[in-house]
Amino acid sequence: MSAISIEPLRIEQWREYKHIRLQMLQESPAAFSGSYEEECWYADDYWQNLVKRYATGIGNRTFMALRDGKPVGMAGYFHELRYKLRHVATIVSVYVQPDTRKQGIARQLMETVLADLTGLGYIRKAKLTVNPCQKEAVALYERLGFTRAGVLKEEMRVGDRFDDHWIMEKQLTTVS
Ligand SMILES: CC(C)(COP(=O)(O)OP(=O)(O)OC[C@H]1O[C@@H](n2cnc3c(N)ncnc32)[C@H](O)[C@@H]1OP(=O)(O)O)[C@@H](O)C(=O)NCCC(=O)NCCS
Repeated sequence: MSAISIEPLRIEQWREYKHIRLQMLQESPAAFSGSYEEECWYADDYWQNLVKRYATGIGNRTFMALRDGKPVGMAGYFHELRYKLRHVATIVSVYVQPDTRKQGIARQLMETVLADLTGLGYIRKAKLTVNPCQKEAVALYERLGFTRAGVLKEEMRVGDRFDDHWIMEKQLTTVS
C-alpha cells in the first residue's frame, strides 16, 4: 500500500476539496454542522472562493491526506485574529474516508495540525466540538490528550434528533 502524505490545501485543489467535503457530509451527517442537502447545490465559484480563502487566508489552515495524489482525508483549524482571542485555535473538518480508516491517517492529520499550531508560537490551546455519538473521533481526541471541557445541550439537529456536543480542549504550550 502506498504511503500517505499530509499537505496543506492548495488553491487548485478545489474540486478535490469539494468532493471530499460532500462525501463527508453525506457519509457522516451526525459529525458535521454542514449538510449535504444544502451544500451539494453550491456552484463551482463558491468552492473556488472557499478553497482560495482556506489555502491563502491568515489565521486558518486546512491539511489534506493524500494517497497517490488523491485526497483520503482532511483536517483544518482557524483562530481569531483579535489580540485577546488569537491564542485559541479551533480544529474543524476532521475526516478520513471509510475505506482508509484505522490506518493512523487521522492521527497523522491531527499531529500535523497540532505541530503547525505549535509552530505559530502564540497558540496556547486547541479546542473542538464533537458529537459524542462519533465514538472513533472521541477516542482519537482523547488519545491525543484532549479532555472534555463541557457539554452543549441539543447543539445540533440530526434528522429528528437534537444531539448534544462535547467541547474538548488541549493546552499546547506554556508560553507567557
Ligand atoms: C474519527 C476518524 C477521523 C478517525 O480516523 P482514522 O484515520 O480511522 O483514525 P486513526 O487510524 O488515525 O486512529 C487514531 C486513534 O483514533 C482512535 N480510533 C480511531 N478509530 C477507532 C475505532 N474504530 N475504535 C476505537 N478507537 C478508534 C484510536 O484511539 C486510534 O489510536 P490507536 O490506533 O493508537 O488506538 C474517522 O473515523 C472519521 O472520519 N469518522 C467520521 C467523521 C468524524 O467523526 N469526524 C470527527 C468530527 S469532530
